[in-house]
Amino acid sequence: MRDDFIMALIMNNILKVKRVFRCGRRYLLQRNESATAEDLTKFAECPPCVFSGIQPTGVPHLGNYLCAIRKWVDMQQQYDRMFVSIVDLHSITVPQDPATLRENILVMAACLMACGIDHEKTILFQQSTVAYHTELAWILGCLCTLPRLSKLPQWKEKSKVVKDPGVGLYTYPILQSADILLYKATVVPVGEDQIIHLELSQDLARAFNRIYSIIFPYAKPLIGDVSKVRCLKDPACKMSKSNPNPMSRIDLQDSADLVATKIKKSVTDSIRLLSYDPQERPGVANLINMHSLITNTRPEDIVQEFGNLNKVQYKEKVTEFINGTVQPINKEMTRLLSDKHYLHTVLDTGMNRASEIAEVNMKEIKQAVGLR
Ligand code: TYM
Repeated sequence: MRDDFIMALIMNNILKVKRVFRCGRRYLLQRNESATAEDLTKFAECPPCVFSGIQPTGVPHLGNYLCAIRKWVDMQQQYDRMFVSIVDLHSITVPQDPATLRENILVMAACLMACGIDHEKTILFQQSTVAYHTELAWILGCLCTLPRLSKLPQWKEKSKVVKDPGVGLYTYPILQSADILLYKATVVPVGEDQIIHLELSQDLARAFNRIYSIIFPYAKPLIGDVSKVRCLKDPACKMSKSNPNPMSRIDLQDSADLVATKIKKSVTDSIRLLSYDPQERPGVANLINMHSLITNTRPEDIVQEFGNLNKVQYKEKVTEFINGTVQPINKEMTRLLSDKHYLHTVLDTGMNRASEIAEVNMKEIKQAVGLR
């Protein structure tokens, strides 16, 4: 009886020590401390560098363009080192048809260039062609605890709709961290939906810097407001490529007539005149937001200027503005897609430029970990 009691006491203490160790490690990985003086000195050596990515899961929509891609285009003027990656490895976390994926990679390359990404200035490349991304993802994965990963929403959201979801869907935020850290990016322009993934990349950078050697800067997010461009059929949700109803979004390859039909059939309300009230009139607010983003005009000024129009007339006005943005992109995309060889050459050049930088950084990382 006494032996049992002593045994139980020992077991209990072992469990307690284990728990403290686990919590300590989790704390180590999650602590949101600011950079130390030593970090800052080291980071001063990192040149400003922008990294962003987009999945090749079909033609981007107006929300992707207005809140993400257009920002990247503007940033090209401010930053000497900028990467835009077509993140094909992220897209295979859910089932993809191989032929469609191959096509979508080129569609995305054409689309980014048609939107204004200058492939001579910006390093535009296909993620899977630089194998260091997955190599670094493994190293970072060894620093990331399961509880830290389980907090991220992508698994909870997507595993509900995907039958028998794979482990990649659970771990892909680690790959996203690797994308960012591999190039020692200092600025990451993304929509709000990606902030939580960026926090993981900062935490993993901190963990690595503390455990091995100070190598990674803590990249700052530059947030685009994804909440502004909503689904045309249900303004409670954001406009999304994954919505099975194509009438729910404006794709950058939609014809002028199709844009007109989609806007005409977009869900609004029964109030005849125009007013801006995102809470009470989300459908109308969505139209005004798109108009506002395209023309860089405040919603209040739009209401002032177009307040005399009824909803049908206003929808026609918004269609004009949208087509003024979408149709030139559509036309240029069609032109670029007619020369696939050229698109492959652009992506190959991007791969070579990205690989050169990734290789140098990867050597330093492996050295720090003891793999070299
Ligand atoms: P993805 O492909 O879902 O989206 C690409 C970018 O578009 C933004 N976005 C939107 N912006 C405005 N309105 C919307 N309705 C809307 N929907 C999406 C997203 O916030 C994103 O910035 N995991 C990422 C891709 C990625 C990445 C990276 C990004 C992989 N590695 C490294 C930055 C850095 C994704 O799935 O994005």
